[in-house]
Amino acid sequence: NLLGIDIGTSGTKALAVSPSGKILAEASTAYPCEHPKPLWSEQDPEHWWKATQKVVKAVVKQAKLKPADVGAIGLSGQMHGSVFLDKKNQVIRPALLWNDQRTAAECDEIEERAGGRKKLIKMVANPALTGFTAPKILWLRNNEPKNFSKVTKVLLPKDYVRLRLTGEFATEVSDASGTLLLDVVKRKWSKPLLGKLDLDADLLPTCVESEEITGTLTEEAAKKLGLTTACKVVGGAGDCAAGAVGNGIVKPGLLSTSIGTSGVMFVHSDQPEYDPAGRLHTFCHAVRGKWHMMGVTLTAGGALSWFQDALCQGLGAKGKNVSFDQLVSEAEKTSLGAEGLQFLPYLAGERTPHLDANARGALVGLTLAHGRGHIVRSILEGVTFALRDSLAIMQDLNVPVKEIRGSGGGSKNPFWRQMQADVFGKPVSTMTADEGPAYGVALLAAVGAGEYKSIEEACKATVKTAEKTKTNAKARKQYDQLFPEFQSLYGDLKHRF
Ligand code: XUL
Repeated sequence: NLLGIDIGTSGTKALAVSPSGKILAEASTAYPCEHPKPLWSEQDPEHWWKATQKVVKAVVKQAKLKPADVGAIGLSGQMHGSVFLDKKNQVIRPALLWNDQRTAAECDEIEERAGGRKKLIKMVANPALTGFTAPKILWLRNNEPKNFSKVTKVLLPKDYVRLRLTGEFATEVSDASGTLLLDVVKRKWSKPLLGKLDLDADLLPTCVESEEITGTLTEEAAKKLGLTTACKVVGGAGDCAAGAVGNGIVKPGLLSTSIGTSGVMFVHSDQPEYDPAGRLHTFCHAVRGKWHMMGVTLTAGGALSWFQDALCQGLGAKGKNVSFDQLVSEAEKTSLGAEGLQFLPYLAGERTPHLDANARGALVGLTLAHGRGHIVRSILEGVTFALRDSLAIMQDLNVPVKEIRGSGGGSKNPFWRQMQADVFGKPVSTMTADEGPAYGVALLAAVGAGEYKSIEEACKATVKTAEKTKTNAKARKQYDQLFPEFQSLYGDLKHRF
């Protein structure tokens, strides 16, 4: 049997999965995220290790597995975070996370040192974005030189947990792509960029393909988790690639839309295609020798949570917040286009398509006739249009998109799923096991353990679509008319941000 572990931003989740892909048990546990200053987002890596021990023990117990029953573990996690370690492998300061926006100056510095954005994209397939890891390393060097002088290794969140599990310094290509230090085309650390940034290549761990075995459990870790030292740990994947594997996005023509706090449009590609303007990320896929492109909407489901927390507190049954289901059912009663109300979901800046950490949210066109349902509808429509922006860029670049598979809270809800099918102009399918990244890395562990020859074969055997939501032609036409209006809003308001 396999374990898949996902080190998320709000908590860690573990799945116990049989070699045939059946979910045997699931457990998760939450931890806090600190925001010591505006735009900062940090976490203590110790939370991840403690949470990992807790959820692993819980799933092993629930599934009634004996220690030797777990043959391999796959690790997934929030991407881009920076764990700074000293020579004794102690964490030097809290990790800076993917949604931390403090590094604008360092992004400029990177593009300058690289000889411009175009040259940078040539080296690492992506522009410098505030959330990525390289600018975080430079931020430490520029702002906390004492801490920087102690750093001997920089690890991504899931790879820190790997260190605690196996004692090995390793990462894999999908997560490494989001550091901005990987030559994404060659699937190797970019020596030229490391040189230009004056960073020592020894700071980085070994980088492998996602299904490769990076080590086995140390005696201490095996004891703590109740497993054996024969248990292997495979490379795994960043949460986006892992989630895509869990949805079977491992061949051309398949795209997944995943709406959680952020929204991700993820498309498989056989070749390393990239957007010359850098609006989409081009990363290595967790599939050997394959790539993917993705567009990230930073506040997707997060926009609805914001509305619920900020404006619906205590207004639901028994003094609770109004539930998501209730809010969405109020939206469902309003008409398409929310009577002219439009929402710009850039509550935390935006990556795709604007690459603008300073972008802001907006609600435009309010009248006395608008109620809560209209506002919620405009939020859902605004977020879905923001995702369509990513799809539109992929289509412009001629990346084939034949089938869309939905996952996360936004696709579980039938009304939002129908809205996606109408806004994207393509049917959206749900999955039988919508278990997110932990499922994808359990499948990678199954490949590493020799249960399948390749991840494509593992997905073919285990991943199935459930329900298909078809596009409604009339709604599609109406959304097609509204989309250019949504697209022009950002430009219209940019001078106010
Ligand atoms: C991807 C990204 C987020 C995090 C969230 O580029 O920043 O999806 O991985 O966990």
